[in-house]
Amino acid sequence: MEVDVTVLYGSQTGNAARIATDLTRRLRRMGLRPVLRCMSEMPSNRLAETRYLLSVVSTHGQGDPPDKAVRFYEVLHGENAPRLVGVRFAVLALGDIGYAQFCAAGRRLDQRLAELGAERLVPRADCDVDYTESAEAWMHGALDVLAREVGGGPRRRPSDYRPTATLPGMPAGYSRARPFSAELVDRFKLNGRGSGKATYHLEFSIEGAGLKYEPGDALGVYPENDPRLVEELLRAMRWDDDAPVPAGGAKHSLWDALLRYYEITRLTRPLLEQASRFGMPYLAELLHPERKAELDAYMDGRDLLDLVRDFSLWHVPPAEFVAILRRMPPRLYSIAGSYRANAGRVAVTMATVRYRTHGRDRCGVCSAYCTDRISVGECVPVFVNDNPNFRLPADPASDLVMIGPGTGVAPFRAFLQEREATGATGKSWLFFGDHRFRTDFLYQTDWHRWLQQGRLTRMDVAFSRDTEPKTYVQHRMMEHRRELLSWLNHGAYVYVCGNQKRMAPSVHSALETILAGSAGTAPCEACNRLKELMTQGRYQRDVY
Ligand SMILES: Cc1cc2nc3c(=O)[nH]c(=O)nc-3n(C[C@H](O)[C@H](O)[C@H](O)COP(=O)(O)OP(=O)(O)OC[C@H]3O[C@@H](n4cnc5c(N)ncnc54)[C@H](O)[C@@H]3O)c2cc1C
Ligand SMILES: Cc1cc2nc3c(=O)[nH]c(=O)nc-3n(C[C@H](O)[C@H](O)[C@H](O)COP(=O)(O)O)c2cc1C
Repeated sequence: MEVDVTVLYGSQTGNAARIATDLTRRLRRMGLRPVLRCMSEMPSNRLAETRYLLSVVSTHGQGDPPDKAVRFYEVLHGENAPRLVGVRFAVLALGDIGYAQFCAAGRRLDQRLAELGAERLVPRADCDVDYTESAEAWMHGALDVLAREVGGGPRRRPSDYRPTATLPGMPAGYSRARPFSAELVDRFKLNGRGSGKATYHLEFSIEGAGLKYEPGDALGVYPENDPRLVEELLRAMRWDDDAPVPAGGAKHSLWDALLRYYEITRLTRPLLEQASRFGMPYLAELLHPERKAELDAYMDGRDLLDLVRDFSLWHVPPAEFVAILRRMPPRLYSIAGSYRANAGRVAVTMATVRYRTHGRDRCGVCSAYCTDRISVGECVPVFVNDNPNFRLPADPASDLVMIGPGTGVAPFRAFLQEREATGATGKSWLFFGDHRFRTDFLYQTDWHRWLQQGRLTRMDVAFSRDTEPKTYVQHRMMEHRRELLSWLNHGAYVYVCGNQKRMAPSVHSALETILAGSAGTAPCEACNRLKELMTQGRYQRDVY
């Protein structure tokens, strides 16, 4: 019997796509013939014909679906959405519990499929950043039910879909679950003297690791916490550094566990809920749903040290305390060079995060670790996070428009190195911006060399603190709107990388205005055209 099984994914940085690919392989091993589809490629009329629909979707922005899933969500939530009676479905939602809209896209999908008449195969699973275990459990649940429902021929027993050893990093070898210890071999500051910013170029050796990457991929880095913060936390709690506590399935000293394994710099509602069980009445009161705004304001910019001081959590035994902490999540950094030009090495562009809140100087865990605390010659656990949603066009003759202010420029250095190495013939146009021309023109010599060679066709820059009023990349785009429109009309691919909160929405509305500016195009048409470009992969974003 031929059973119609579709594995559907919506992914921005590649995790959901990897899980969906893994799930598809397991279904094949059961003797089924599943179809794997990105949400951008799912015709809505096919949805109703599917017998089993297994979906994996992540949440981005402020609770939004991934870019390539936006259109799919619109159709599914529209008036003409297909009725899905007879469809059996399951949703795996990926997210980060630190965000207010935890797994919102997965929740919406799960709810909407049910509203349209589809029937749940297994309950939705909501996964935090460290998703391996929950994703495994969900897959097992869904595959078990499926195996029972579609019959149990010898090739369809659950034992035939043994879990793969490292779910997130599909290929054997080093992965997110099994990072490679990479030596930091070079690090230099990209900002000139007098700059208010600290942006670094870092290179790690991946010699002998068998790791490969494509332009657009990111490097995942597992950092260590700041030892001064760990020290303060231990002193505040009057704990013994050597007290044995569980971490990652083994016993470690409390010092090591807090330094390397647990997240101690971010407060989340689930963490506070668990902490309130240690008998803190005021904390329990703050968790009341009506005081949500107050709770959010408290969590913003505070860490575990603030929590234990503010709520006098002194009496809690270390092992009970670490049991409520989540594992340190890795950070991603766009790879700033092409593998072809730098085999054996991987480069990233990292801005050091420093700020002062609630009376204390604080720093970003990973950026301060990599740019300040470790020395060249030391090793850091890393993995390659491949990102199929941020890729050079397959046709080397296609034109590129790259918009990447600040560290957002990193992947475009990789794009141009790659195009130089492969002799691609397409034109390319870079929009770059930062604070000041004199001190903050990241990789200036690279761009000028490529401009001279003709590898980079055009470059427009915006240095906000050199002009009054401030000028940003979106202003430069508007100044050159006619040429930009002509590039777009001739099939150019648009890439945006960098700041998610301010830059990406401004660039998005500049693109809408530019598209609406073409003769006879209404604003809503321009908006639809941009969404269409997104769905087709001609407008790709890697924003954070
Ligand atoms: C796909 C992708 C690609 C990326 N590429 C790059 C890249 O190329 N280069 C790069 O530098 N980064 C990049 N990032 C961001 C990077 O992953 C980290 O988020 C960043 O380095 C901060 O991590 P951290 O550990 O240093 O800071 P964390 O310890 O994670 O702290 C950051 C948090 O500190 C808080 N914070 C920061 N500033 C303030 C302030 N002024 N006031 C109050 N609170 C504040 C905010 O809550 C913020 O979320 C990328 C992210 C993604 C998802
Ligand atoms: C810029 C950015 C915004 C995010 N916003 C949310 C959010 O609003 N809610 C949430 O639960 N997770 C959020 N996440 C976490 C992602 O959903 C999570 O990292 C997921 O594993 C990514 O899967 P993907 O690689 O398939 O896109 C965000 C991540 C990034 C990088």
